[in-house]
Amino acid sequence: MAQLAKLDDIVALCKRRGFIFQSSEIYGGLASCYDYGPLGVELKRNVREAWWKAVVKMRDDVVGLDCSILMHPLVWKASGHADKFADLVTVCKKCNTRSRVDHLADHHGHAEEHTEHVDIDKAAATPHDLSRKVCPACGAVGQFGAPMAFRLMFETQMGANVEDTMTLFLRPETAQGIFVNFRNVLDTTRVKIPFGIAQIGKSFRNEVTTKAFIFRTREFEQAELEFFCAPGTDDEWYEHWKAERFRWYTDLGIRKENLRFREHDPDELAHYAKACVDVEYRFPFGQGDWQELEGIANRTDYDLRQHQRGMRTVNDWMAAGRDLTAIGLKEEAEDYLSGPLSYFDEQTRQRFIPYVIEPSAGVDRSTLAFLVDAYDEEEVRGEVRNVLRFHPALAPVKVAIFPLVKKDGMPETARALYDDLKRRYASFYDEKGAIGRRYRRQDEAGTPYCVTVDGQTKEDGTVTMRDRDSMEQIRVPLDQVRTWLSEKLDV
Ligand code: GAP
Repeated sequence: MAQLAKLDDIVALCKRRGFIFQSSEIYGGLASCYDYGPLGVELKRNVREAWWKAVVKMRDDVVGLDCSILMHPLVWKASGHADKFADLVTVCKKCNTRSRVDHLADHHGHAEEHTEHVDIDKAAATPHDLSRKVCPACGAVGQFGAPMAFRLMFETQMGANVEDTMTLFLRPETAQGIFVNFRNVLDTTRVKIPFGIAQIGKSFRNEVTTKAFIFRTREFEQAELEFFCAPGTDDEWYEHWKAERFRWYTDLGIRKENLRFREHDPDELAHYAKACVDVEYRFPFGQGDWQELEGIANRTDYDLRQHQRGMRTVNDWMAAGRDLTAIGLKEEAEDYLSGPLSYFDEQTRQRFIPYVIEPSAGVDRSTLAFLVDAYDEEEVRGEVRNVLRFHPALAPVKVAIFPLVKKDGMPETARALYDDLKRRYASFYDEKGAIGRRYRRQDEAGTPYCVTVDGQTKEDGTVTMRDRDSMEQIRVPLDQVRTWLSEKLDV
């Protein structure tokens, strides 16, 4: 219970301090959609940049990409999403609420939320005993209708003229944009296998149950890497990326005891995966608490092979009146190894369809984990201090600059320092209110350092430097503030 309260505290702080707002709030809100406010947008941008730095910039074997959200409909036929990206749902006969079958619990336990998506054609034929399951909306027991498949992709129409209007899907993952550009990247860069292509961007899923603030929403951002390697080396790269991705979270301050791996059981694996592990975080909600933060999958050569088949299907699709439901993918050609998505390794003189290791993270979900892990309340001189102990790389504001009082030249000196520092670091200038309150406001925003220009500054040219976590204050010469900060912040 205490942990549930903690999520409420975080939601309240996010609203109060402008991290995260409900979408369309002045119209009563739009369920499961959120807007990032002035502090939140900086935090999320820093999460993105930390990911890009670790996965792309610091490596010689990964390049970036930014694909469009709308893609050719055959992409989703080839990837399997058009036929398989659905949840099994049931409707409560008492209150008409639709629930995911795998999320239903009985009176004693909680449901495992790990079931994979279902095949749209075959879903109804699978037997399910729901006689003891409880409706999460009204509490009725065993009052469910027959389970059915619910497609998770959002549809939209493209084209202004009736005759060429086409039904498209908003992408449910960014990964497919990478696969369909595999050849383009190979042909335009010097990459050689093993190498990766990374992308950060919005994805959309019409989730049946949304959950816990920004944890599961219908519009969200993913940070995905598709790492292409030779078959036979895939297990090694899978282990490599597991270690790398775990370290990314702990390097950015997530406590090890709140992070763990959970390998998927074979019957839980997605249709494309040979192996999959979730990096789980101990979120402050649910009865199990441990929830997926990121998935790392061995996707084998499934996607590239499927897109080779998709490329050969285009004409059939045109002939079928561009109707996705009316066509099947062409059978795999016998000479698929000479197809455009195969790879020739000059060193081994072998041609193969590369295997893919995919670490797939949620930017919003990671942002929530960083918020939860950084959040702290402590009593200081009889008062509660709320503090976000962000890693400096993630803190929305790196340094706040204050004049102690609004006179004796202090604001002028503080402003000049602010003008200098803001060119390098996200900085904040504040001259309003008591100094203690100004410190508290920055603690709540997670600002690692505050600099105060005071009476002594005029005498000896030093300022007070205050540390967010220890609240210790030391004096630093004004002309050394920048160097001092760079030692602490450029990490
Ligand atoms: N390309 C593989 C893929 O999309 P996934 O496990 O479905 O795999 C990867 O999604 C990550 O994306 C998840 O671990 C989670 O962090 C994030 N994610 C997925 N659905 C989400 C949702 N509805 N809301 C917020 N984040 C989500």
